Amino acid sequence: MGLLVAIEGIDGSGKSTVIAKLREIMPIYATKEPSDGPIGRLIKEWALKGGTSDPYIDALLFAADRLDHYQREIAPALKRGLVVVTERYVESSIAYQGAAGVDIGFVEAINSKVPPPDLTILLDLDPEDAVRRINARSAHAEKYERLEFLKAVRAIYLRRAAERGYVVFDARERPEALAERIAETIRAKLGLGQR
Ligand SMILES: Nc1ncnc2c1ncn2[C@@H]1O[C@H](COP(=O)(O)OP(=O)(O)OP(=O)(O)O)[C@@H](O)[C@H]1O
Ligand SMILES: [Mg+2]
Repeated sequence: MGLLVAIEGIDGSGKSTVIAKLREIMPIYATKEPSDGPIGRLIKEWALKGGTSDPYIDALLFAADRLDHYQREIAPALKRGLVVVTERYVESSIAYQGAAGVDIGFVEAINSKVPPPDLTILLDLDPEDAVRRINARSAHAEKYERLEFLKAVRAIYLRRAAERGYVVFDARERPEALAERIAETIRAKLGLGQR
């Protein structure tokens, strides 16, 4: 029945880059959040561009987009037996909206209609390095890319990873090496499922 893998990490930690590398070394169905659906577009074109400054509205929009993304795209791909790799999933909402002041229990509750991933992989990077990468990528920063904020996001990610046993990789490694580690982790998980 497929395998759902979530790649998590702060802005600029290298999620998109590593997923592109991963596609070159193993067959996966790659997707990302916010999704390309109508709610995802509303998030990208409105909420992330300063449309709302209420983090509870953000939390609700991200949760609605995630459920839509899951039903429309992830569940059908899993049904086809694919390894689905999503750039961001529930832990992104917990870390980002949690850092913005939303109660984490609330975030968990509104995300409880999607199943947890089979595997969560955190690309951990110091926000100073991440901001350096982001600034090299483009001059304009979205509202969640500020340094102090990213420090709070990282702290929540790391705390949750320790509590829940997520796989954490050092995002300063080369993208090729990170992709190889992720592929190994996925293969190990698939192997376990076959026993
Ligand atoms: N392992 C790496 N080592 C050095 N630079 C990297 C690495 N991975 C990505 N980069 C560079 O850092 C920048 C951000 O990478 P990327 O867009 O993959 O991050 P992201 O986590 O997907 O960010 P976002 O959350 O904004 O989608 C890019 O310019 C990319 O080339
Ligand atoms: Mg990305």
